[in-house]
Amino acid sequence: MSPPAEHQPPPPATAPLKVGPDCWMVGHRNPHSLLQCNTYLRIFDQGAPLHVCADPGSQIDFPVLQENIRRLIGDLSEVHAFTLNHQDPDVVGNSPSFCEANPQIQTVVSEDVWRLVQHLSFRPGKVRFANAERKPRIEWGGGRNWRLVPTPFCHFRGAMAFYDPELRTLFSGDLFGGLNQLGRVHLFAEESDWVGVAQFHQIYMPTREALRYAVRQIRALKPAVEVIAPQHGHVISGDRVPEFLDRMYDLLVGVDLLATGLDTTYLKSYAQVMSQLVTWTADIMGRSEVLTRLANPAIDDDFESLVHIQGNDVRLEREGYSALVKAFDRLSRGEPSEFANEMRSLILSMCAERGLPIPPVGVGVEEPGGMGSSTLSPR
Ligand SMILES: [Fe+2]
Ligand SMILES: [Fe+2]
Repeated sequence: MSPPAEHQPPPPATAPLKVGPDCWMVGHRNPHSLLQCNTYLRIFDQGAPLHVCADPGSQIDFPVLQENIRRLIGDLSEVHAFTLNHQDPDVVGNSPSFCEANPQIQTVVSEDVWRLVQHLSFRPGKVRFANAERKPRIEWGGGRNWRLVPTPFCHFRGAMAFYDPELRTLFSGDLFGGLNQLGRVHLFAEESDWVGVAQFHQIYMPTREALRYAVRQIRALKPAVEVIAPQHGHVISGDRVPEFLDRMYDLLVGVDLLATGLDTTYLKSYAQVMSQLVTWTADIMGRSEVLTRLANPAIDDDFESLVHIQGNDVRLEREGYSALVKAFDRLSRGEPSEFANEMRSLILSMCAERGLPIPPVGVGVEEPGGMGSSTLSPR
């Protein structure tokens, strides 16, 4: 598998993207979305043809997904099986359509996930439980199999990743997923995509201990993993696999970030980020406008308790992680999404440079239909 070029030309948003031989990403690369949902189609063409989808994906993306599958294998009814990492709507949303297209379709899912997802009332032809303790592999027939890789609490207790040893590709679900930057729809992860991965995990993963357990499982796989194909963002390949595994092992996420010790540990660095954010925004809208927004008493977010504003000076005093979210919200209100997205990228890169937990700024909420610009209020 050839390593990705550092600067890949943007692919068409609605075409299948090649992950490797006989493996495609068939989801929609919506350039207006911060959260790209990846569905993978694995084509086994030795022996009896077999087509397996990893995570059917979001209903919002269904028209594109259906067309991409049609282009590759003729029809949705030709999908013989799908796996589910966990039960979130962006993962399982198209399951009913898959079952309708092929009533004989199989699904492979952990019992913990199925207990919940069955309430969507779709009924595959066969449900095969992925239980690594009972049996570590799922056999597709004809000597073809995927290894089960439980990744508990990443981010659901029963989350199950699937490893294709022939392609050395791990379908990892939300684990290693990332928020992208608006307009960046390339397939393979580049260095600058790490911040989106870190931000996604800091929002959605519960604790570093869960990540560490999962990373240990992945490192132990034989043959060694060469490609990580997550359900969001970019596919990780080549040297980035061990690099991103190492970074993931050390990433503080979720409840780790609630620890009050972080406030003082990182306060100085967050203060630098706040100061640079103010300078950057002042260059665009003028310092008096920035100060007016940051001191606006009509906004009820307790921002004033975290900073000291005097004259032209904005000084961070506590809780930098939270203060940056509030500052971002105040400064981006009413501004075009391009401006907010640029500000988000700036904050992400400044935090990443300093090794800071990345605050959940600019977490887009898709407009109905998922095709419009993101709105940028995290609340
Ligand atoms: Fe999820
Ligand atoms: Fe997801």
